[in-house]
Amino acid sequence: MSTEKVIEAKKQGNALMTEHKEENTKKLYIENYGCQMNFNDSEIVASILSEEGYNTTQHMDEADLVLVNTCSIREKAEQTVRKRLEKFNAVKKINPTMKVGVLGCMAERLKSKFLEEEKIVDLVVGPDAYRDIPNLLKEVNEGRDAVNVILSKDETYGDVSPVRLNTNGVSAFVSITRGCDNMCTFCVVPFTRGRERSRDPQSILEEVQQLVDKNYKEVTLLGQNVDSYLWYGGGLKKDFKNASEIAKATAVDFAQLLDMVATRFPKLRIRFSTSNPQDMSLNVLHAMAKHENICKYIHLPIQSGSDNMLKAMNRQHTREEYMELIRNVREIIPGCALSQDMIAGFCGESEEDHQDTLTMMDFVRYDFGFMFAYSERPGTLAAKKMPDDVPNDVKKRRLNEIINKQLEHSLQRAQAFVGQTVEVLIEGNSKKSDQHWMGRNSQNHVVVFPKNGEQIGDFAMVEVEDCTSATLIGKAAK
Ligand code: SAH
Ligand code: F3S
Repeated sequence: MSTEKVIEAKKQGNALMTEHKEENTKKLYIENYGCQMNFNDSEIVASILSEEGYNTTQHMDEADLVLVNTCSIREKAEQTVRKRLEKFNAVKKINPTMKVGVLGCMAERLKSKFLEEEKIVDLVVGPDAYRDIPNLLKEVNEGRDAVNVILSKDETYGDVSPVRLNTNGVSAFVSITRGCDNMCTFCVVPFTRGRERSRDPQSILEEVQQLVDKNYKEVTLLGQNVDSYLWYGGGLKKDFKNASEIAKATAVDFAQLLDMVATRFPKLRIRFSTSNPQDMSLNVLHAMAKHENICKYIHLPIQSGSDNMLKAMNRQHTREEYMELIRNVREIIPGCALSQDMIAGFCGESEEDHQDTLTMMDFVRYDFGFMFAYSERPGTLAAKKMPDDVPNDVKKRRLNEIINKQLEHSLQRAQAFVGQTVEVLIEGNSKKSDQHWMGRNSQNHVVVFPKNGEQIGDFAMVEVEDCTSATLIGKAAK
């Protein structure tokens, strides 16, 4: 391996960084792939390792420990990680004492197979086993490979206060549920992240309080399906007649959790992700309407606009039920932004099914979208029972049609803000110029505008003068 290639490996890296502790002497290089939940998990891992004497580094070649938090959602995500492991291998040749660990969904899916397939991996840790990393590292240091991929029914890391990685000091993620019980037939998540469980609301409020104390201005409450958040517990047993009475009286659902967080922190912006149409209640919409500080934006994946496909995907709602939910959103929260996830070319998808997706998009006119060609995942019901029968070129063509439609709608949605004044939370410099700020409005549209004495973390009123499909462009309102 030439030096050039090693340098390239280092440059391509996307190391996550956090504040250093003086007393820590070991170096951790950590990279993250996949969803926001994974990002927050990396923060939990960095927090656990910070207690074990590790500070983060941007330089892989000086690391004692290299960790990669992985994603299995599509085959491409796994290929990206395999490529990174090749790069790590090159660096390990120069620094043979460096240990390499794989975390997250790929670790869970492939388990100890990883150690056979990827000879450079010393450590394999699934999403519910991060507390065990210090023990596993001891094993590794004694020359043994270490694997823990046990999934848990109750691990929420509720008491681990995550260190914030690559933070702008303005916006942070707070996990409220882990796992998923939905079993959409295409999806690997229930297998890699296990059963759904909700985190104690007290520990959520405490974590948010810590963020507010550190001057954070926005939190995003995270879960695979936040609407099914449900916590039973609390209260004094003697005050209740029986267990079911206790459960009813003390249960906290997602609408109540939102209300609790928004009431206690009236100056904090609150976002959440991801909503599932089958579980989103009117109470959640009412909580959003009631609290100005809950952002007016819902990420509401549908995957397909066709009833046939929704059924084959085991999504628990019909096209009409989804449309009814959208009508309720429009009525209860006027001006609320919406976004979708779509899968093009799922098993058995006909041209007519695809047209149903396009007409659904016309009905909703989403602000943003995350669109994918179907990728068969080993172990899922679809992989076992349904032929992946839409040819690749057809998948790609349909995906392009979906993306093009989304671009049109995103532009229209952005144009609707031109001429309006919007409140923007400033997150940092705009990508293109350090003379401009970048922030978001409540509806999650990115806004850029020239600096005018404001600071990162300030709320600014911005007159929107122009836009692209992805950005609102304006100036600070007088
Ligand atoms: N509820 C989760 C969904 C996680 S997966 C959440 O919090 O977002 C994110 C998106 O990836 C899904 O909504 C779906 O659109 C897409 N996806 C999942 N499995 C897929 C597969 N096998 N092929 C293509 N896209 C997939
Ligand atoms: Fe996956 Fe469906 Fe859960 S998309 S994460 S199984 S809601």
